Amino acid sequence: MAGFLIRTFGCQFNELYSATIADALTRGGLRSSESLGEASLIIINTCAVREKAEEKAFSFLGEAAKAVGAGHIVFMGCTATLDKERAVRIAGRGLNVVDGTAGAEQVLALIGTMVPLGEPDCVAPRSLFPTANIELMRGCESYCTYCIVPRSRGPEVVVDGGEILRRAEQAVGSGFSELLFLGQNINRYRSNRGGLVEIMSSVDQLDGNFWFWFLSPHPANFTPEEVRRLMELRHIEHRVHLPLQSGSDRILGRMNRRYTIADYARLAEPVRENTDWTLTTDIIVGFPGETDDDFAHTVDAVREFRFDGVFLAKYSDRPGTPSSSMQDKVPSALIDERHSALLRIVQNLSEQSNQVLAGRCVDVLVLAAQVGGNAFGRSIDGRNVWFSCSEPAPGIGSFVKVAVDHGSREGLYGARAC
Ligand code: SAH
Ligand code: SF4
Ligand code: F3S
Repeated sequence: MAGFLIRTFGCQFNELYSATIADALTRGGLRSSESLGEASLIIINTCAVREKAEEKAFSFLGEAAKAVGAGHIVFMGCTATLDKERAVRIAGRGLNVVDGTAGAEQVLALIGTMVPLGEPDCVAPRSLFPTANIELMRGCESYCTYCIVPRSRGPEVVVDGGEILRRAEQAVGSGFSELLFLGQNINRYRSNRGGLVEIMSSVDQLDGNFWFWFLSPHPANFTPEEVRRLMELRHIEHRVHLPLQSGSDRILGRMNRRYTIADYARLAEPVRENTDWTLTTDIIVGFPGETDDDFAHTVDAVREFRFDGVFLAKYSDRPGTPSSSMQDKVPSALIDERHSALLRIVQNLSEQSNQVLAGRCVDVLVLAAQVGGNAFGRSIDGRNVWFSCSEPAPGIGSFVKVAVDHGSREGLYGARAC
């Protein structure tokens, strides 16, 4: 049986497209492989959000081309859209390059001419079970000045509200336990069935035992009232990921984020008022023009909002973005210094946030379970949970309660309670 290998970089959109492709190939009779030597088809699903991810993809492309030759490689995703020429220079003519705005459909059409493919048995790929990633919209028109996504993924394309509900219902009906709704700026979602809050409220009415969540909201297009309404839904996970990016109003202005720290604080308030909910964020350190004072404001903001988790990124210059032509770049040594300083604070906050739960009982979605009594899952407020359990081990996708013994900065540790 021929083998295929998929290497995925980037966000949940890419995970969704890669899983959709992997499922179709598996159903067509191909075997998934981790080794270049065993694969006769290699798919590289790329991310352009930071230089590092791009360099990794290009270096893997070079290795893959040596192993199987350009004609057996599909290079897709954001970097494929932006730098086709470099990809062809590395791999050679015959490389199959698919535009990043195309999602999985165009890749499936192409691969279908190369190997046999099977039909999906559900709207959501099985290989991401128990989570069904469901696109609400593609593309982005928010134009943050540092970000490549509006160029690599193109303008917003919205999925019809009725279609979203159909997909959600089918995913729950076929046993998925968690629905993850996706949009680059999901607060801009509009359809015949209303905006984000209306569509999430309709999903909440579906029958079944499931949790749902969504990524990513944008503070400029979100209101405190909407946050409160979402927090009242029955099936929603108890967590909000609200990207802050910087704690300095001056830098937020230069990033074209279109909100101030005071606006952000109003949105965070309903989440922080409820101790059963977590708040996580994205921060970029070293945006062009970031002074010591701006950075100090970011540190203050991180402490003030007591984030339960922070995805911390060093600013990466993306060719063609407005910020790449700003003059006052922060030296990389200073970016490193600020990054390490903030990382320590962020890790301490995560540790404190997890330690507080010692002695409590939490609801957990089971993601992995070993024979012999060790399991892993995610709590309803988004924490990693490692726990022991007696036989029989709980099934992947089931919901259990875990009595928490202690917490670390990585997550919670405990034992199954019921
Ligand atoms: N649409 C989502 C995700 C965007 S990309 C959102 O707006 O939240 C995910 C994260 O990558 C961003 O939130 C930002 O923190 C980071 N990022 C994007 N461009 C970057 C760049 N040029 N340098 C460093 N980090 C970047
Ligand atoms: Fe990039 Fe901003 Fe769009 Fe997010 S909202 S994808 S950071 S431009
Ligand atoms: Fe990366 Fe493209 Fe997603 S740049 S984060 S793969 S939209």
